[in-house]
Amino acid sequence: MDYDLLIRGGTVVSSQDMAKADVAISGGQIVAVGALVGSAREVIDASGMFVMPGGVDTHVHLAQPSRGPEMCDDFGTGSASAAAGGTTTVVCFAWQGKGESLAEVVKDYHQRARQSMVDYAFHLTITDATPAVLDQELPSLVEEGNRSIKVFMTYDGVRLDDAAVIRVLAAARRNKALVCVHAEHHDLISWMGEQLVAAGLTAPKYHPWGKPMIAEREAVNRIVALAEALDVPIQVFHVSGKQSAEEIARAQARGLKVWGETCVHYLTLVAEDLDKPGFEGAKLVFGPPARTKADQEALWDYMRRGIIEVISSDHAPTRYDDPKGKKFAGEDGPFTQIPNGIPGLAARLPVLFTEGVTKGRIDPPTFVRLVSTNPAKLVGLHPKKGAIAPGSDADVVVWDPKKTVTLTNAVMHHGGDYTPYEGYQATGYPIRVLVRGVTVFDDGKVVGKAGHGKYLARAPYEKITPLGRFPTPFNPVDRKIV
Ligand code: URP
Ligand code: ZN
Ligand code: ZN
Repeated sequence: MDYDLLIRGGTVVSSQDMAKADVAISGGQIVAVGALVGSAREVIDASGMFVMPGGVDTHVHLAQPSRGPEMCDDFGTGSASAAAGGTTTVVCFAWQGKGESLAEVVKDYHQRARQSMVDYAFHLTITDATPAVLDQELPSLVEEGNRSIKVFMTYDGVRLDDAAVIRVLAAARRNKALVCVHAEHHDLISWMGEQLVAAGLTAPKYHPWGKPMIAEREAVNRIVALAEALDVPIQVFHVSGKQSAEEIARAQARGLKVWGETCVHYLTLVAEDLDKPGFEGAKLVFGPPARTKADQEALWDYMRRGIIEVISSDHAPTRYDDPKGKKFAGEDGPFTQIPNGIPGLAARLPVLFTEGVTKGRIDPPTFVRLVSTNPAKLVGLHPKKGAIAPGSDADVVVWDPKKTVTLTNAVMHHGGDYTPYEGYQATGYPIRVLVRGVTVFDDGKVVGKAGHGKYLARAPYEKITPLGRFPTPFNPVDRKIV
């Protein structure tokens, strides 16, 4: 036999173009792409199908330990959900609690991730930026391949103040790591929440009122300024609308290494969607919140122009009908106590394809760029991930662009009890999903084995190389004149 597997007769969609081609796989890698002859142990007939690189989701919360509400996906259920939606690589959060050793957290997280059926890498979430963490633990953790750090500018118990954010930025630059940021003005949204609750406006539908766009825009502007001052590449997570996207565009126009991510829910949901009977709106509580139709149109525009380059899920699921989930503070509890976050791993590709390609907003190569190639590049995994090319891992999605599926909780294959997309008609769906040449999803069924997924250590890469540009002739991070 010439190959382990031959995918014949499909249209290969790359980040640049699309063309009819066969794809040959051996030893878990793509070995040839083109008009191929030769024999294979297995042949997949992909006529009428798109053949695309597996989705790379660089914002996924799985198996996060919690002292409060509990996330309902571990790496077993979470990776099954990823596979079911055509995602073959996830980047998850090794999350430091206050007072904890980051090194211990990462060690424990490796154990948790062992049951994954898709490949995975880690962001390091720093909530306690002590000298011990930044100076003693971080260098070896980054060197081991954890080349991205996550910081929160809001949320009690996890947020860093500006002084701590600056220390993390400096440490990231010294150690060659990307900094990913949750940007919202903490004091403003805390105060807003207090005023709404005091006024008796406590229902889930008031959550977007408590987190107005101005709070996000200000924080995006601030983190860009700090990153510019220290010359550190950053990615702003979950850009929810026009004003924040404008800040990213302005930063990019100044030549800064500032990238923006948005999520499928910002393209599909608006603030009014939380206005549901009873407590149902809690199913759509996430931060920053859903905005307006005009914001959605602006995000599509920024995506087409390449300013917003990455679409993630921000899969952060808690169960709805559960005192450890959305009902943590009871159905009468104020929106300020509803855990933020929604499930979205399995829905990411089908919903974006439907809204984007099927409805004519973007072409298939742009889709591939947004969900696979760009995220892989941004976190230093390309071309191993995010490409259909000889030498790349054989992470492949055979995609039926015409298949219509009604989304339900069952087809999400996750650990949660709801999907925000219940009843949504997706047109465009994965038929078969391979991780390093092994089938993990086949015709509606998750068939991958727990433990097939591998940890992806990341070496330094071009995107995280600083510009070497400071506001003055002094490089404050290395304390030298440039
Ligand atoms: O609402 C959200 N996004 N929850 C998950 C944690 C985060 O902010 O990314
Ligand atoms: Zn966030
Ligand atoms: Zn998140």
